[in-house]
Amino acid sequence: MAHHIVLLPGDGIGVEVVAAATQVLDAVGEFSYEKRLIGGAAIDATGGPLPDETVDACQGADAVLLGAVGGPKWDSTEAGRPRPEQGLLGIRKALSLFANLRPVKPLTALLDASPLKRDRIEGTDLLVVRELTGGMYFGRKERDADRASDENAYTRPEVERIARVAFRAARRKVTNVDKMNVLEVSRFWREVVLDVHAREFPNVVVDHMLVDNAAMQLVSAPSTFDVIVTDNMFGDILSDEAAMITGSIGMLPSASVGEEGTPGLFEPVHGSAPDIAGRGIANPLATILSCALLLRHGLGLSAEADAVESAVDRALEGGLRTPDLGGDATTDQATRAVLEQL
Ligand code: NAD
Ligand code: IPM
Ligand code: MN
Repeated sequence: MAHHIVLLPGDGIGVEVVAAATQVLDAVGEFSYEKRLIGGAAIDATGGPLPDETVDACQGADAVLLGAVGGPKWDSTEAGRPRPEQGLLGIRKALSLFANLRPVKPLTALLDASPLKRDRIEGTDLLVVRELTGGMYFGRKERDADRASDENAYTRPEVERIARVAFRAARRKVTNVDKMNVLEVSRFWREVVLDVHAREFPNVVVDHMLVDNAAMQLVSAPSTFDVIVTDNMFGDILSDEAAMITGSIGMLPSASVGEEGTPGLFEPVHGSAPDIAGRGIANPLATILSCALLLRHGLGLSAEADAVESAVDRALEGGLRTPDLGGDATTDQATRAVLEQL
C-alpha cells in the first residue's frame, strides 16, 4: 500500500517549497497525499491556526511534511490574537514530537557558498538535537498592562528523553549546551543530562558548554562538534546560526520525532520568508532534504533517501544556485535540476 503523507504547506514560501518537494517524492516512490491547513492559511479559513481535522489527519499519517507558517498579515502584538506559530507548536505537542533533529553538514559543492571561510567549515558534520515540546515555548504565559512573562520549566522525564536521543545519536561525543551559570532550569537540565550519562551511556564522551560560548564556537570551530543537545529556545537560535555553515538557511532540513510508532513531522528549518514569498525564487533544497529524512526516518526507505540526497549533491556540483546561494535559479529550475539527477 502507498505510504500516506499529510502535507502542511502553511504560509508564504511554505506553499512553494512543499509543491517542489512532492515532485521529488513522486520521482522516488508512490505516495498518497492529503493536504491540510495550518498556520495563517488556517486562521483565514477557519479562525484558528490548527483545525481538528489537521490534527486528526496527522495522527493517521505515516509521516507529515510541513512547509512553514507565519507572516506579517498575522503579526499583531496584541494579547490573545491567534498566531500562525501556535499551529506549528500545537501539532508538535499533539504528536508529542519532543525531539527535533537538525543535521548540519556542508556539501562539498557549497564550501565556498558559506560566509564562513572554507578551512573553518570543512569537515563539519554535526547534529543539533533540540528539545521541542517543553521549556519557554510551552510554559505558563502571563500578561497584564505592565508586565508579561513566559515560564521556562523542564521536568525530569522531559530532559531524560531528549538526552537519550542525543546519546544514542553520538558518534564521537555529546556537547550539552545550557546557561547553568545563570538559570536554575539549566542547572537542573545539566544534572539530569549527567545522570542519564552516568546510568545509561557511560562510554559516550560528554562535555558541557554555556550557550553564549557555543554560539561563538559554532562559527569559529564548527567541526569540533558532534552532537549538540539543548533546550527548545537555545536550539531554535543555534540552528539558524549553524545553517550558515551549509551556505544558507534554505539548505537546512529537520526531523521532528516522538516515541516509536507516532508519525514524524519533517520540516525545513527556515520560515515562510515573507520578503521573497510569491516570487518563485525560494530555495526548495531544505524541504527536499527534509523529504530525504522523511523517507529514511519516517518511512524506513533508506535507498530512496540516499537517492534524493545524492541527487541534490550532484545538482549543486552541476552549478545549481538559487539567489540565497548567490545564483539566479528559480524554485522550479532548482527542482528540475534535482529531478534530472534522479
Ligand atoms: P525566515 O526563515 O522566514 O527568513 C529569514 C531570511 O531567510 C529571509 O531573508 C528569507 O528570505 C530567507 N530565507 C528563508 N528561507 C529561505 C529559502 N528557502 N530560500 C531562500 N531564502 C530563504 O525567518 P523570519 O523572517 O524571521 O520569519 C518569517 C516568518 O516565518 C515569521 O512569521 C516566523 O514566525 C515564521 N517562521 C516559521 C518557521 C516554521 O514554520 N518552521 C520557522 C521560522 C520562522
Ligand atoms: C522553527 C521556528 C518555530 C520555532 C516557530 C515558527 C514557532 O522558528 O521551527 O525553528 O521557534 O520552533
Ligand atoms: Mn526557528
